[in-house]
Amino acid sequence: MSFKINDSVKWVGKIDWELRTFHGEEYSTHRGSSYNSYLVQDEKTVLIDTVWTPFAKEYVANLKKEIDLHKIDYIIINHAEPDHSGALPELMREIPNTPIYCTANAVKSIKGHYHQDWNFVVVKTGDKLNIGSKDIVFIEARMLHWPDSMFSYLTGDSILFSNDAFGQHYASELMFNDLVDQTELYQEAIKYYANILTPFSKLVEKKIEEVVAMNVPVSMICTSHGIIWRENPLQIVTKYMEWAKDYQENQVTIIYDTMWDATKKMGEAIAAGIKSTNPNIAIKLYNTAKADKNDIITEVYKSKAVLVGSSTINKGILHSVAGMLEQIKGLGFKNKKAAAFGSYGWSGESVQIITEELKKAGFEVIDNGVKALWNPDQESLDKCYELGKQFGITLK
Ligand code: FEO
Repeated sequence: MSFKINDSVKWVGKIDWELRTFHGEEYSTHRGSSYNSYLVQDEKTVLIDTVWTPFAKEYVANLKKEIDLHKIDYIIINHAEPDHSGALPELMREIPNTPIYCTANAVKSIKGHYHQDWNFVVVKTGDKLNIGSKDIVFIEARMLHWPDSMFSYLTGDSILFSNDAFGQHYASELMFNDLVDQTELYQEAIKYYANILTPFSKLVEKKIEEVVAMNVPVSMICTSHGIIWRENPLQIVTKYMEWAKDYQENQVTIIYDTMWDATKKMGEAIAAGIKSTNPNIAIKLYNTAKADKNDIITEVYKSKAVLVGSSTINKGILHSVAGMLEQIKGLGFKNKKAAAFGSYGWSGESVQIITEELKKAGFEVIDNGVKALWNPDQESLDKCYELGKQFGITLK
């Protein structure tokens, strides 16, 4: 499949409807994804990004139906993770001398992945590649989300090829933002931001300000995953600015794992306490062993506060909570309140362990938390309810 984006740009990527996890098992992709690759034709022909390795043969075969590969004058690799560079070995076997335009960091990354010394042309912000009546201008986008990431801007058509930034893991044959379901689109866009871009929020803000200051028109944003922003394309840029500034909704999220439902009952008592003092706040509960980890991260990202519970097991905490705390710590969420809770039968370390982890993750722990021996009795449930009341008032 290929389709025209306008008279000079064609999409030649791959929609991956089956994909259910990405980055190994690190990111769930309930709605699949796409690897967007673009063919730009002027006096010169440019290929921007490729597709993930498993689709390399199919991609190159399809590309041959679009163009004689030897007529590709330049390849641009905006980012070298294998979901974008994965077809390079297959492609470069056919056209080994074609120059590959990318950042200095991308050269290291591509060589690291494929151990080939192709004809790299290193570019930096402001460099231009003339392709006839138009230029492609390069803008480094370091740490959005890798050290090698960059954007390419096509003058004349005013298209920003943003690679991962502004993308979503979202398979759709419709391929344009104005044609797809808006709830699905924004659900995938915010999940992508929360799980991938949160640690780089300060850089997102700076980069957007830098691009806005360039004062160039943007008619379309062609991302490397999901749909193309065509109608009011800057809406996603505005959203990113909002999301980058410690974005929060009026929400509190309670996450826990539980062995015999004791810790679960504690979480529910906390929720009831929050609701009693703050009936308008959204309260969401997730069992970390049952709900999708990346959906939970998205809810944590949206929350003003997070309560984390686990039974004590072997002087530690349950593995699903440990995994979630590790992920949360890596994402560096800012400006969120937190506390811990959990039941135990012997030693009861879980609340202290979680509290320490929450502090390490940068949360403001506003209470020492609640421990309950065995199945929580009314007194323990009352303590949970009180903890919830305290959060409800604090979050008003
Ligand atoms: Fe879509 Fe960072 O790769």
